[in-house]
Amino acid sequence: MTNPTDPTDETVVSAEVRESYERATPQSRALAERARSVMPGGDTRSVTYHRPYPSFVDSASGASLRMVDGETLLDVLNNYTQSVLGHAPDPVVEAVCDRFRAGNGVAAPTEPAVELAELLVDRVDSIDRVRFCNSGTEATMNAIRAAMAWTGEERICKIDGGYHGTHDIVEIGVSGDGRAHKGIPRSAERRVQTVSYNDTEQLKATFEAVGDEMACLILEPILGAGGMIPATDEFLRTARDVTTDADVPLIFDEVMSFRLAPGGAQERRDVEPDLTALGKLIGGGLPVGAVAGREQLMAQFHPETGSIDHSGTFNANPATMIGGVATLEELDEDAIVELNRRGNELRERLQQVGDASSQQITITGEGSLFQIHFTDGPVRDWRSSGAGGSLSEPLFHAMRREGIFLAPRGMGNLSTAMDDEDIVTISAAFERALESL
Ligand SMILES: Cc1ncc(COP(=O)(O)O)c(C=O)c1O
Repeated sequence: MTNPTDPTDETVVSAEVRESYERATPQSRALAERARSVMPGGDTRSVTYHRPYPSFVDSASGASLRMVDGETLLDVLNNYTQSVLGHAPDPVVEAVCDRFRAGNGVAAPTEPAVELAELLVDRVDSIDRVRFCNSGTEATMNAIRAAMAWTGEERICKIDGGYHGTHDIVEIGVSGDGRAHKGIPRSAERRVQTVSYNDTEQLKATFEAVGDEMACLILEPILGAGGMIPATDEFLRTARDVTTDADVPLIFDEVMSFRLAPGGAQERRDVEPDLTALGKLIGGGLPVGAVAGREQLMAQFHPETGSIDHSGTFNANPATMIGGVATLEELDEDAIVELNRRGNELRERLQQVGDASSQQITITGEGSLFQIHFTDGPVRDWRSSGAGGSLSEPLFHAMRREGIFLAPRGMGNLSTAMDDEDIVTISAAFERALESL
């Protein structure tokens, strides 16, 4: 069995790849060693770790990452979809810095939060009211809490392989066998019913059997960390129907998918949830989350008349809020249409390269989101995605040698800082990377 924290593990990264990586990243290696003496694994985010050690970023602007070792990489990961405008976009930097100078940490509401909430209510039909928090994790935690308070039930239905952050209940069923997670109370397992993504019959059968015991159904309109797999229209429509019939709130986690249309993936798919969890791009590069939705459900957060206590030192801090406003103003309908067009073109090109290679490759995704799977597909859910396939990390290193920064699991996404030439560059790099595997 491989140990993902063992820097000497050679079953995933070959000696040749390791040597060439170490030659290219001596400063990062020194920093990683220093970091390991003060942080377990040398970092504080499991998903940014890869073997033999992650390389360190010095600065980032537009579509580029400048690494401490002097390399410049094309960033096709964009902080796992957060940096939708690329890095340090001028209007956002200016708005955030101006606001920070005007005072940020105040224990009272400020107008930028009202502006950001107004923008979200205007853009998303299912959103009447918004509460801000500091991460996607907190957003899904509060959405589930609102659903539990509303129904009086404690069990939730979620997707096998669906990632909604790191609070206990949503950690269950994340990697298929997430039930083995240590540190999570066993009681959390009993509170979760999982369903395979895009399995409409299983979803119907589950709700027929235990729908009345559920506090909510939570899902992503495109399964993100579980393989960047779009839901079928039939699956999303069924999710809406079974939850309506059971009188159970439907929660869409749009932490990643919100970029797909001005009103999020729910607008694109024409299915309205009762609650939406948001995060990542709506904070303009600062930590953010939001739970939003129907007025009656959201009224439970009302400080005088509601039943849910919801506080947080940094909730709706004005620099984050104004960063979100500036980002959404840039990310208008025209920008999204263009971003999605480029994404479609990139996925087509990557699939063509995969088809012409000796590997079995399936490219999934939607709009500006994509993932490379080492399987001949079809990829419909976490189990058919070939997730954790042994070639994902070698591909990550091979793409990195070509100057492209992807997720170690083969996931990527575009930012508005990229152009058509970047699409050609990424596909050509993929062709050479596959040949080198
Ligand atoms: C769909 C989805 N939900 C929730 C989260 C958790 O967000 P955060 O990392 O801000 O806690 C993520 C993070 O990647 C996500 O992709």
